[in-house]
Amino acid sequence: MPSSDGAAYDGFADTFAREASTSAYNAHYDRPTVLGLLGDLDGRHVLDAGCGPGLYLDALLAGGATVVGCDQSADMVRAARDRVGDRVPVRQHDLDAPFDWADDNTFDIVLVALVIHYVHDRVATLAELRRLLRPGGRIIVSTSHPTADWIAAGGSYFEAGHVEETWSGGMTHRYWRQPLQAWLDDFAAAGLALERLVEHQPALSMAHEHPTTYGKLAREPGFIAYRLAASLPASA
Ligand SMILES: C[S@@+](CC[C@H](N)C(=O)[O-])C[C@H]1O[C@@H](n2cnc3c(N)ncnc32)[C@H](O)[C@@H]1O
Repeated sequence: MPSSDGAAYDGFADTFAREASTSAYNAHYDRPTVLGLLGDLDGRHVLDAGCGPGLYLDALLAGGATVVGCDQSADMVRAARDRVGDRVPVRQHDLDAPFDWADDNTFDIVLVALVIHYVHDRVATLAELRRLLRPGGRIIVSTSHPTADWIAAGGSYFEAGHVEETWSGGMTHRYWRQPLQAWLDDFAAAGLALERLVEHQPALSMAHEHPTTYGKLAREPGFIAYRLAASLPASA
């Protein structure tokens, strides 16, 4: 059994690319929040881990970064390569596997946008990503807000476990939910210190493009982002 469910995106890459380029949750919520957390990109070397069809790759290039992308899904890798051509090397890689192809101290920024909740062993993956950071580097993670997951799944807020959902279009995805405390414990166990935590706010542009979703996300949490720095040396 695969360790995570990225391959669930196979066959949906073009649909995801089309929707996420304008959708409330991607274009007007996650990307503006995360790009704001990345800071100055000019001259930075960035790994986009779980790059999907490359919408972040485009934005990172536009900011002046040099970029490497990877994704577990062959269909997503194909869509990302179609988008960025030879400007970005895009590799097929499962985040549950070691980065045998990347040296220690390689990247200034590792971006993990809307993917960590698909990973089986989040601590091992984050520790491996920490190994790839240059001194002073940062990992930026965006994911579902634990409160939103709890509201959607019900039961106890403090439960941790897999949730299965079928999205419009028929894609079934299985993701990990856990309370905020467990996320913070995972970061610490991976040798990462929390530098900033941001609860996404909808961009004003969402109010025009997606007014109903804007109303919802202006009053309740949907996503959350964390900026993490190495608290242990990369070799520890
Ligand atoms: C919601 S999409 C996000 C794509 C992109 N980061 C963005 O925000 O536009 C989730 C992506 O994570 C990928 N994925 C899921 N599990 C993965 C894993 N274990 N390793 C690498 N990629 C994975 C999926 O194939 C999919 O492209």
